[in-house]
Amino acid sequence: METFFPFTGEVTLVTVTLITYSRSFSIDYKNNCFQKDGKPFQYISGSIHYSRIPREYWKDRLLKMYMTGLNAIQVYVPWNFHETVQGVFNFAGDRDLEYFLNLANQTGLLVILRPGPYICAEWEMGGLPAWLLQKPNIILRSADTEYLKPASEWLAVLLTKMRPWLYQNGGNIISVQVENEYGSYFACDYNYMRHLHTVFRLFLGEDVILFTTDGNTDKEMICGTLEGLYATIDFGTDTNITAAFIRQRRFEPKGPLVNSEFYTGWLDHWGDKHASVETVKVSKMLGEMLFMGASVNMYMFEGGTNFGYWNGKSAISVYFYDYNAPLSEAGDPTDKLLAIRDVIKNFRDIPVGPMPPATPKFAYGFVTLQKVSLLDTLSPQGPVRSQYPLAFEEIKQYYGFMLYRTTLPRDVPEPTPLISPLNGIHDCAYVSVNGVYQGLMERDTALVMNVTGQQGDQLDILVENMGRVNFGSYINDKKGLLGNLILGNDVLTDWSIYPLDIDTAVANGWLQADQSGSAMEAGDGPMIYSGTLKSTGLAWDTFVKLNGWNKGQVWVNEVNLGRYWTQRGPQQTLYVPGPFLSATQPNNITVLELERAPSHRRILFMDRPHSELTMTFNMLLSHEDIELFLNHSGWFVS
Ligand SMILES: *[C@@H]1O[C@H](CO)[C@@H](O)[C@H](O)[C@H]1NC(C)=O
Ligand SMILES: *[C@@H]1O[C@H](CO)[C@@H](O)[C@H](O)[C@H]1NC(C)=O
Ligand SMILES: *[C@@H]1O[C@H](CO)[C@@H](O)[C@H](O)[C@H]1NC(C)=O
Ligand SMILES: *[C@@H]1O[C@H](CO)[C@@H](O)[C@H](O)[C@H]1NC(C)=O
Repeated sequence: METFFPFTGEVTLVTVTLITYSRSFSIDYKNNCFQKDGKPFQYISGSIHYSRIPREYWKDRLLKMYMTGLNAIQVYVPWNFHETVQGVFNFAGDRDLEYFLNLANQTGLLVILRPGPYICAEWEMGGLPAWLLQKPNIILRSADTEYLKPASEWLAVLLTKMRPWLYQNGGNIISVQVENEYGSYFACDYNYMRHLHTVFRLFLGEDVILFTTDGNTDKEMICGTLEGLYATIDFGTDTNITAAFIRQRRFEPKGPLVNSEFYTGWLDHWGDKHASVETVKVSKMLGEMLFMGASVNMYMFEGGTNFGYWNGKSAISVYFYDYNAPLSEAGDPTDKLLAIRDVIKNFRDIPVGPMPPATPKFAYGFVTLQKVSLLDTLSPQGPVRSQYPLAFEEIKQYYGFMLYRTTLPRDVPEPTPLISPLNGIHDCAYVSVNGVYQGLMERDTALVMNVTGQQGDQLDILVENMGRVNFGSYINDKKGLLGNLILGNDVLTDWSIYPLDIDTAVANGWLQADQSGSAMEAGDGPMIYSGTLKSTGLAWDTFVKLNGWNKGQVWVNEVNLGRYWTQRGPQQTLYVPGPFLSATQPNNITVLELERAPSHRRILFMDRPHSELTMTFNMLLSHEDIELFLNHSGWFVS
C-alpha cells in the first residue's frame, strides 16, 4: 500500500523534559479505567456539534452542559464543512474549531475529538466532501488512493492544529477517535484503518489515546477495531448493558468500559413521527452504566440545527436534528436534562449554581412575502450545454439546485409519460412546460409523470439535492439527473443546465422584493418570494412557521436556515437564532417555494416551535393556544 503525506521533509522528534508536573491522560489496564494525572477517571460526556449551532451560542450550550454535571464533550469535525473546495481550508467564524475548544476549556470541559475523516452524524455525505465524487470509481472509506490521498491531506492540516490541544500538551482533548463506526461499512478494509492509525500517530504523537467506536454486533466490532486503537462500543436504551459490555470485553479484555454513543433520543426523517426516547429510560440506564464505572458519552446532548444544505440522508429521506436531546434544538434545558443532572449528582459533585435559563424567544408575528423571481435568472455563469444530462458533481455545483432545460422533441397533445427509467432523479424534480408547472418526480417513489405540450415547448426541470446519504453502502450519492429522461418513446437530449447560486443572490440582496407593490402573482412551481421583518429593537431567537406553504428553503438576511417541508412534517417551524437577526435594520426574508405558495403568502415568527417536538419546561402552551391567541389579538408586525 502506498502512503500519502503532504510534505517531504523528515519528522523530527523533540524530547521535552517536564520538570514541574506532568499532565497525563491514559488507560489504566490494571484497574480497568482511564487515568487523568495519575488518578482514576470516569468521563460523563455529551455530544455537541459546533457546526449545527451559531458561534455566538457555543458558550451558552457548553455552560449548560457543564452545569448539568458533565466533565467532557464529544465533538465531530465535518471535513466537508472545513474543506468545501479542495485544498482551501476554512476555520473562520462558525468553523473556528479552536475557538470552540478554547470555550470548552474555559468552561471546564474536556474534549473527546472525532475527526473522522468519515463521521456519519446524519450530516451531508457523512462529512465527506462531495468533490470526492468527481472521481467516478472512487471507493470511499477505503485504501483506494483516490480517497486516501485527499483524506490524508485533510488530516495533516486538521491534526497539526489539534496537537497543541491534546491534554498532555496543555489543552483539553483527552482522546481521539479514528474513523467512525467503520465496522458497519461494507469495505472492512484493514489497510485503510492501519493507514489512518499511522497518520493519527504521526501528527498527534504516541501519548494520546486513539480509539474506535462501533455498533453492538460482532461483525461491526470485527471490521471496525484495530490493534493499537482502544475499542469502544455504542448502544441505546433498548440494549442489555451487561451483554453489550461483555462484547466490548471480548475485543478489549482490560481497560475502561466505554459507551461512546448512548442515545438520548433519535434522528428524525421527513414524513415520520418525531423521534423520542423516554426520559425515565435514559436516566435509569445512564445511572446503571455509571454505577458499573463505565465512561459514557450521551449522543446527542444538543442536536442543534441542519442549517443550509448540511443535512444527511438515509436511503429514503432526510433528517432534521432536534434529536429529542436534553438540550432542545434551540439550546433550552428540558426535563430530560434535569433528570440526567439528578442521576449525575449520585456520581460526582455537580457545579454549584443555577442552570442557565433558556435564551429569550420572541413572537415577531406575520410577514407577508411577495413573489420576486423565477429561477433561471439565478445562474450568473449561464448554462452548460450537454447532449445528455450531467450530474451536479460534473458541473462542480455540489449543493442546492440546478435547472435542466430542453425542448419537447414532438407534439404531445395527450398526457404522455415522462419517465426516469433507472431511478435517476436525485432527489426531486419539479417539472414545467413553457413556464406552466406540471408536477414533480421524486427519487424511489415517483419516477413517472404525465406531460402535455407541443414540439419546441420549453421543458424545465428544477432538480433539488436533498442532502447526500450519510450512512451505509450508498454514500457515493451523486445528485441531479443521473440518467436520461424518456418522454413517450423519445430520449430527451440537448440540455442547457443552469447551476443556480441562490445563496449568493440572497447575500447580495438581488432577491429583495420591489417594495413599490408591483409584485407578481403567486403561482405554482418553484419560485422565490421575499419580504422584510421590521426591526423591533430586539434580536431574540424566534421560530418561523410556513403555514400553507409546501416545501422549500428559507433565508433570513444572508443565512440559509435550511429546508422546510410543511406538507410532510413532522417539523413545522425552522429555528431562527437571535444572532442571525438585526435589531436595528429591517431583516430580509427570502423563501424558495418549490411547489405552491399559499394565496396569503404569509409566514409567522413565533416564540416556540410548532411541531411535535420536545416540550421544554418553559413551553407551557399548546400550539392551538398560540394560534388562537395570534388570531384574536390581531397582532401583525407587517
Ligand atoms: C485550558 O484551561 C486551563 C484552566 O483554565 C488553562 O490553564 C489552560 O491554559 C487552558 N489551555 C488552553 C490551551 O487554552
Ligand atoms: C442481559 O445479558 C446478560 C449477559 O448475557 C444475561 O445474563 C441477562 O440475563 C440479560 N438480561 C436480560 C434482562 O435479558
Ligand atoms: C397518465 O395519463 C394516462 C392517460 O390519461 C393515465 O391513464 C395515467 O394514469 C396517467 N399517469 C400518471 C402517472 O398520472
Ligand atoms: C437587507 O437587504 C438590503 C438590500 O440589499 C441591505 O441593504 C440590508 O443591509 C439588508 N438587511 C440586513 C439586516 O442584512
